[in-house]
This record gives sequence, structure tokens and C-alpha cells, in this order.
Amino acid sequence: MNAYDAILTRRSTRSYTDAPVDEEQLNRIIEAGRYAPSGGNSQTTHFFVITDQEVLKELAEDAQTAFAAMETEPGMYRSLVSSINRSKQGNYIFYHNAPVLIVLANQKDYGNNIADCACALENMMIAANEMNLGTCWINQLKWLNEDPVITAVFRRYGLEENERIYGALAVGHPATEDGMPERTPLPRRGNPVTRIG
Ligand SMILES: Cc1cc2nc3c(=O)[nH]c(=O)nc-3n(C[C@H](O)[C@H](O)[C@H](O)COP(=O)(O)O)c2cc1C
Repeated sequence: MNAYDAILTRRSTRSYTDAPVDEEQLNRIIEAGRYAPSGGNSQTTHFFVITDQEVLKELAEDAQTAFAAMETEPGMYRSLVSSINRSKQGNYIFYHNAPVLIVLANQKDYGNNIADCACALENMMIAANEMNLGTCWINQLKWLNEDPVITAVFRRYGLEENERIYGALAVGHPATEDGMPERTPLPRRGNPVTRIG
């Protein structure tokens, strides 16, 4: 698959098998993220690659507790409302039970923190698609990036005082009949293009 096809056929996967991701493939995905461009070549994105299922379960429980304590408000971002409501119901696994979650942090006072993480996330999504692996951008830890309990988990593994989480990526084998990622692109209804000249 060439790069252009990998970009155009990337879709979000929200159902995964328990099968672990091959170590060599995982390393290639991480390297694809590390080779993303960064503002001023700052290279300050910090990659936490979580394959320890106990840590993932701990994060799921902590996130559920944090979301369940929130109240929805009119005009609130739809996905956040969904996280709050599902957490209040219980059994909310924000990372779709993927066997791997790659969490990206960056310096909180750096103006390109989210942009750099987004570049790394997209690179990793494209690389994983080329390897027939599924991925999904996971935003919940960004919303909770001032939560003391979640922060304490990442501090244990080296999250610096001046770092915050800006995005995450679920990675794994898609739980589809043929084990391949869904690849039919969604029709483009938005993203208008204005050509000048
Ligand atoms: C900034 C951003 C945040 C997202 N957050 C989540 C998320 O928290 N959970 C999730 O399941 N999908 C999330 N997504 C995936 C989008 O819902 C998905 O890309 C969109 O519906 C289009 O579908 P596709 O990826 O299959 O083309 C996010 C995507 C982006 C770019």
C-alpha cells in the first residue's frame, strides 16, 4: 500500500481483538510518530506506550470516576457529554478495549503542543493502516489532563511537572470477520476547498 492509499483508506477502529500487537510493528508505529514534524523541530512530544493491561484497566476506572463526577451542560462537546453519561452508567472503557494505548504528552507552555501531538498521531494512524492494524484517536485523557488521579498514574512513569496529555491512540487488531480494518472512506461533506488562482 502506498502512502496516499494508506491516508485515504484510514478509518477509526472501535472494536479490537485481545491479540497483542507484534513488538516490531509497534516499534515501527512509534517511530512513525517520532518522525512527525514538530514546531521549530522542538521534538518535545513524550510517548507513553501502554501495553500493561492492568494499567489500562486502572486508567479506565480512574477516567470513569472522573467523568461520572461531572455534569453535562447545554452546548457541551457531544463526545464529552457521551463520556459523562456513559461513565455515570458504568462499564465505560474510553479506549475501546484496545490492547495498546499510546498516550502523547507535551509541554503545557509550548504553543504547538497539540499540533505536534496531532502530527504524531496521524503519522502513527497511517503507519498502522499500512500494517493492517486498526487505530482510533482517543481524546478522553486530554479532557482529564488536570485530573490529579490520572496525572499521578502518568507521574509514576515519568510525566514531567510541565507536561500535559494532549491525545492518545488506541492500536490493535480489528475485531472484524476478516481481521482487516474497515477501509471504506466516509463521504466528504465538509472540508470545503477554496482555490485561489
Ligand atoms: C481530534 C480528534 C478527536 C477524536 N476523539 C475521539 C475519541 O475520543 N474517541 C473516538 O472513538 N474517536 C475519536 N475520534 C475519531 C473521530 O470520531 C473519527 O475520526 C471521525 O468520526 C471520522 O471517522 P473515520 O476516522 O473512520 O474516518 C477523534 C478524531 C479526532 C481527529
